[in-house]
Amino acid sequence: MMQGTSGSLALLRALVGDDVITVDAATLAPLETDHRQLFHGKALALARPRDTAAVAKILAFCNAQKIGVVPIGGNTSYCGGATPDASGTQLLLSLARMNRIRAVDAANLSMTAEAGCILANVQREAAAAERYFPLSLGAEGSCQLGGNLATNAGGLNVLRYGMARDLVLGLEVVLADGRVLESLSALRKDNTGYDLKSLFIGSEGTLGVITAATLKLFPAQHDSATALATVPDPAAAVNLLALLRKRSGEMLSSFELLPRVALDLVQRHLPELGNRGMPETGEWQVLVELTSSRSQNSLQDWLQESLATAADKGLIVDAIVAQSGEQASQFWRWRESIPEAQRRDGASLKHDISLPVSSVPEFLSRAQPLLATCAPEGFLVAYGHLGDGNLHFNVNQKPGTDRAAFLAREPALQRAVHDLVHEFAGSFSAEHGIGRLKVDELARYASPVELDLMRAVKRTLDPNGILNPGKLLRG
Ligand code: FAD
Ligand code: MLT
Ligand code: ZN
Repeated sequence: MMQGTSGSLALLRALVGDDVITVDAATLAPLETDHRQLFHGKALALARPRDTAAVAKILAFCNAQKIGVVPIGGNTSYCGGATPDASGTQLLLSLARMNRIRAVDAANLSMTAEAGCILANVQREAAAAERYFPLSLGAEGSCQLGGNLATNAGGLNVLRYGMARDLVLGLEVVLADGRVLESLSALRKDNTGYDLKSLFIGSEGTLGVITAATLKLFPAQHDSATALATVPDPAAAVNLLALLRKRSGEMLSSFELLPRVALDLVQRHLPELGNRGMPETGEWQVLVELTSSRSQNSLQDWLQESLATAADKGLIVDAIVAQSGEQASQFWRWRESIPEAQRRDGASLKHDISLPVSSVPEFLSRAQPLLATCAPEGFLVAYGHLGDGNLHFNVNQKPGTDRAAFLAREPALQRAVHDLVHEFAGSFSAEHGIGRLKVDELARYASPVELDLMRAVKRTLDPNGILNPGKLLRG
């Protein structure tokens, strides 16, 4: 930093206005700690610009002064991606005030929204135009579009609609030096050189600050069918997935694996959600959803028939097909509350892994025994987006064990789990990103060529290293 701290802040205030910059401790405090309480930082100040021009001024200034900038959205990252370091020299940059829907083009099936929009609001605006925006995750009530794109979020509908990256037509990004990449194209076909926007999606605030995006919309959903099916084991779940894909094709939008232990945690820690209709037996459940934009009300019968075929083949033991929208929502509330139930249960060690779907059962049988050797104080809560081969191989602390001893197991357990994932040609970060938590993992598992290219891109776009320093790549 070239100026003294107070000198810099005074200059910044003069540049963008007093009300954009705050150092109020109570406002900053919740933003200086990550959602999982793994990282605690101290920010220089918080900037809350109202438009792209102000973001550009802030970045140009910070670049000249070599002040680190940490973009922050809803602060729901699982990897400490939005937490400043402890130096008190990094500026937190929140786009929460940039929360306008700039345009909806229903005929073009597209919408342009600012990065500070809460994801649930983006979904609602699409619905208001009788369209559908499919990105959906447990944190959708508080995470922001900018954070979703910066992490290339996944979630519950990837099976059919892809990751966040697949839902973007165009982007507006402020570069480290304050220039604005205006690339809010609403085109589906546009082969004019490198696909620059893709570089910023999933870059976790290390290459530029996303200020707006043009998103793909889809026809509104008019028919759906949802079921909770008890499967004998994960191998049967994989075969059930294949059967449903064959019978239902693109109508299959979600296929989630839920172990008994996860439902038990939800029941114990979130009794207000109720447990009427929750399957009482069976170690493994899958939550399946078919959706269609056609309003023929035929999907429920279709799903019922498919599940009957699956039962004949021994792929399911039992199934409850939701008889109402409310019952389907109840299934989803149970599913989406697993992370919160886990959090309330106590300390946890998370592994956000992906594998070829066909390898999941073998992986699980080889990975499960690792707990006994690497983290005997923990129990496994492995669940997630089986349709995408994405498991949250999470481990929670057993009651009565020592928290510090349990947490101290993390490096050894993580190494064993991620090495096994690597052996299966999988990924140690399927959808949550790298942030601060997995910087060493990226350095270990990415190839030298991949790391060279990533560093070259970082140097080119952020030569002074001001954007989210210490995240994603080693400094
Ligand atoms: P933040 O946490 O604020 O930031 C995340 C990263 O993006 C940081 O590196 C930050 O610097 C950067 N960033 C933020 N805004 C911008 C911007 N405008 N420009 C550039 N960089 C920016 N994730 C999934 O993928 N799938 C899930 O199913 C899922 N379920 C979750 C359930 C719960 C209950 C919770 C708490 C989290 C879940 N997550 C999930 C993780 C998290 O919600 C996602 O990573 C989400 O996309 C982060 O959005 P955010 O706005 O909170 O970003
Ligand atoms: C989810 O799918 O619920 C989250 O991404 C997983 C987690 O909390 O680990
Ligand atoms: Zn997930």
